[in-house]
This record gives sequence, structure tokens and C-alpha cells, in this order.
Amino acid sequence: MILLKTNEQIEGIRKSCHLLCQLLDSLEGKVLPGMSTMDIDRMCHDFIIKHGGKPAFLNFEGFPGTACVSINEEIIHGIPKKKRIIHEGDIVSIDLGINLKGYFSDSARTYIVGSVPPEVEKLVKVTRECLYKGIGALDNPHARIQDIGAAVFEHADKNGFGVVREYCGHGVGLKVHEDPEIPNYVCRYMPNPRIKEGMVIAIEPMINLGTDDIIDMPDGWTVITADHKPSAHFEHTVAITANGPEILTQI
Ligand code: CO
Repeated sequence: MILLKTNEQIEGIRKSCHLLCQLLDSLEGKVLPGMSTMDIDRMCHDFIIKHGGKPAFLNFEGFPGTACVSINEEIIHGIPKKKRIIHEGDIVSIDLGINLKGYFSDSARTYIVGSVPPEVEKLVKVTRECLYKGIGALDNPHARIQDIGAAVFEHADKNGFGVVREYCGHGVGLKVHEDPEIPNYVCRYMPNPRIKEGMVIAIEPMINLGTDDIIDMPDGWTVITADHKPSAHFEHTVAITANGPEILTQI
């Protein structure tokens, strides 16, 4: 069931999303060689607590961190660890949510550490573009949920990249994960509801440099590319308002 939000609820979610945007902005240029993925997690945790929020992912379905921190071939759900060190030339995807007074935000960015090969730089750029192509599909007032995935897939595929199918975007706002599921490709077997005012959704393309095949790691969380080539991830929480789509996790 899709929970449509009132303007008052969207205002609460907006505040949570703006805080998350500030946090992700504050990490630009701060993801550095020699840091551990646990260092990133601590920075996120401290920021959220300092601003009166709660880390939405911490203990959600048993996840042990504030942020999912995924390096290179890790696509999503990397568990923060003291011994997992970030190196020059890595790409680091940071995905997290904030619960601010019962309102949930969700956003992710892939950060480039130092300099990376041109094809990896292109992967990160195209994945960010895929997110905005997906959001752009909402400009059509007759849009349906799967128009998002159609736009994401087309842009990734045109650039020769693999689109992860096993994990999807989702509704968000009053819980971490809500209906509907939002695939990053057109899936004939999944529901395809019309976009409606009051929907709040997290759109999150996960795009691979090589194959779209994935491996779920034995830690129960980390998902990696089957060919161990890098993967990038960008995510925004978007509300459908009376004035059209609004990217809430962007100020
Ligand atoms: Co999400």
C-alpha cells in the first residue's frame, strides 16, 4: 500500500532530507585516503545526533552501522569497519537515512578519492546523470513508477554500463522502506502505479562499470559486482507536490 503524505508530513520529511543533504555536502572533499569506513560512519553518526536526529539505518533489519559505506566493487550495503581502509583512487558510495522526529530521509552519493581512471570517472558521472534522468521522468503528469527505471536504464545502457536489477528504489518518509518498489529497469512483473501528489519516493540507480551480475556476500549485507569491477550509486528522496516533483535531499 502506498502511503500518500499530507503537506504537513512532507514538511517534516523535507527537514529530515535537508539535514541529510547538509551531511552529504559536508563530506565532499572529506573522504580521504587512510580513513576507515568506520571513520566515515562515526562522522555521519555524530552529525545526526548533534542535529537532533536518529540514524535511520542503524539496527534497521539488523544493519550494524549509521551509513552503508561501499568501496569500488561493493555496490551497496557495505558494513562500516575499522580495518577497511580507503585508498587513493577508490570510489566510495555513502548511503544513509535520518529519522528526524519520525520523518525519514534517504540519500546516497559516490565520492571519488583522489584521481581515478577515466572510465571510472565516467561511471560516477553517468550514474549521477541516471538519477536525474529518473527524476526527470516525473515531469510528465501522466508518469508511472516504471517510467523512472526506463529512463535510468536507457541512459546507463547507452553508455555501456550494467544496471543492477536485484535492488530497487522505494517509497520513504514515514518509514525507512515503503511501497512502491522502484526498479532501475522496466520490469513487467512489478506493479506500475501512476505517480500521484503526496507520494514520496527514493530513486537510487546502482550502475556497474561491467556486468550487471551481482554477488550477495556471506556477511549478509554487502553486495558486490560479479566481475569485481567498480559500481556507483546515487540516490535522492523526491516528493510529488502540487507544484510538481521536488528533490527533497537537495538544497
Ligand atoms: Co534507499
